[in-house]
Amino acid sequence: MRYPRVIAHRGGGCLAPENTLAGLRVAARLGCQGVEFDVMLSGDGVPVLMHDETLERTTDGAGPVAAQRFAELRALDAGIRHGAAFQGETIPALEEALALCAELGLWTNIEVKPSAGRDEETGSVVGRLLAACWQGDGVVSSFSASALAAARRAAPQFAFAVLADAIPAAWRERLAAGACQAWHCRADADAATIAAVAAAGIPLACYTVNRRDDAARLFAAGAAAVFTDRPDLWAPGEM
Ligand code: G3P
Ligand code: MG
Repeated sequence: MRYPRVIAHRGGGCLAPENTLAGLRVAARLGCQGVEFDVMLSGDGVPVLMHDETLERTTDGAGPVAAQRFAELRALDAGIRHGAAFQGETIPALEEALALCAELGLWTNIEVKPSAGRDEETGSVVGRLLAACWQGDGVVSSFSASALAAARRAAPQFAFAVLADAIPAAWRERLAAGACQAWHCRADADAATIAAVAAAGIPLACYTVNRRDDAARLFAAGAAAVFTDRPDLWAPGEM
């Protein structure tokens, strides 16, 4: 299973508004091979790129994402909070983001990010969409085991990663229980555990790594990849 070494976090990291098409374009322009983004459902069940359950931090809207229909979310500005240069950037539908990743040749980590109480629904909708229009160059992950299981039921042909802050002692059992092929965890995992996971042939990717020396330490321990807000710290050939 292919993993790029450096994965742009939330689209283009901190160099563009998070979870936007502009971010994906920035990542590609910098020479990134892979991107990660978060996917949540609109009120009417359309999967969109969004991290928070509420709109205030990243858009000019207000209130819960789940309280608005896709058409309403689409009218919001998802770029202005990052800077005037990105004014007018919209909240992308997952389908558009997948199409752009394919066009740009970007490996993609689709992180299923259900809003409260919508775990299975979100996983299932995302899985069905992936089965319909994704070529599978990448991996699907989620902090929610039930969302991930629902996505896998709808699209078992793709690769799945456990996403958890830490790596528990029973990591093998957790991978087996979720039928997952990779592990994504925080960058403060200890070197011995990273080495053990890597020795078992399981790709391990750590978030969020915004310094090259931290990345070098994780790679030396056996990590396959890092998620970063600063893809500009690496040259295209290094990623
Ligand atoms: O998927 C890795 C990372 O994105 C998880 O944290 O909160 O940035 O989605 P978060
Ligand atoms: Mg994420």
